[in-house]
Formats: sequence, structure tokens, C-alpha cells
Amino acid sequence: MTSEWKTLEDVEENIFECKACPLSETVINKVVHKGSDSPKVLFIGEAPGKNEDETGVPFCGRAGKILDELIDYAELKESDWAVINTIKCRPPKNRNPNKTELEACKPFLKRQIELLDPKLIILLGNTAEKAFLNGQKMEWGAVEEFEGRNVLKIFHPAALIYTRSRTEDQHRFLDENRYLFS
Ligand code: URA
Repeated sequence: MTSEWKTLEDVEENIFECKACPLSETVINKVVHKGSDSPKVLFIGEAPGKNEDETGVPFCGRAGKILDELIDYAELKESDWAVINTIKCRPPKNRNPNKTELEACKPFLKRQIELLDPKLIILLGNTAEKAFLNGQKMEWGAVEEFEGRNVLKIFHPAALIYTRSRTEDQHRFLDENRYLFS
């Protein structure tokens, strides 16, 4: 019963102990959370990559630099934001998380969201959408209410590494929805 996890520390402890899917056999470090414990904005990424697996810190590599730029662009203070991932263990060769892995990690994702209780959830790409919206699809840059929360879907930062021209669209997605987080 995930409601027995009263605090973020309880969730973290259970993530560290989890062996619900085979990724727990290959993981170096589980990757849980970065940022505020009571954020206005919660970003949901995809899965830990190599750097994250080595350090246990979400978004600490190249995609993380782009996420930092976005946070600066949004003018979010340190206490305003947090980032978590749909799954907490790195999939081999950075492949997309599969259905079994997403389902196995879902109780952690759900309870993290409840306890962090953000005003706005920003889904970073399609995997976050898949994990959080149970198959419902959203347009890029669209906002919808889901389970009582405002949700905005934007590009995953890694999608901007080789296609920097998407940055303009990404900024527009934030500009059009500033009223939700400022
Ligand atoms: N990409 C993600 O989706 N999450 C991370 O933590 C790092 C890269």
C-alpha cells in the first residue's frame, strides 16, 4: 500500500529496496529526485541515463544542461521546481522503458507526485506522457487537467540536443503558460 509511504524518505527507501523488475539487477544507482520537496513545478523526465546511473542524480548530463537552461528561461527559483523520472533504474543502452518497467515503477511515480503536490506537472516528452496519462495523448505545448492537476507537455530536453531549432517552440510552450507557474 503506497499510502503507507508517508514521506518522500519512505518512498526513497522503498525505491532503494525495490526488485520488482529486472532493471534492479543491472542498476548502479537508483535515481530518485532532484530539487525542492514542495515545488510549484514538477518536471517528469524519462529514465536515468549513464551519468545518472553513475551518480544517482537526475538530469546531471547533457540533457540536464538543457533542462537547466529551460528552468532559467522559465525564471524558476531553486525552491520552485523539482524533477523526477518515470522509472528509477537505467534501462540497458538507454533504450526506452518498456511497459513492465513503467508499471513496476508507477506506484513510486504516483506517490512522489502526491507528496510533492506541485501546482503544475510538466511532462518532458512521450514516455512521461505514457507513464502519467495512462494512454491519453496530448499535443506538444498543450495544457490539460488530469487527476485534478494541471499538466503541460513539452519536448524532452534530449530532443533539443541535435535540433536546437526546437528551442523556440519549447520557449513558446512556456511563455504561453506562464500564468500557471509565475
Ligand atoms: N533523461 C531523463 O529523462 N532523465 C534523466 O534523469 C536524464 C536524462
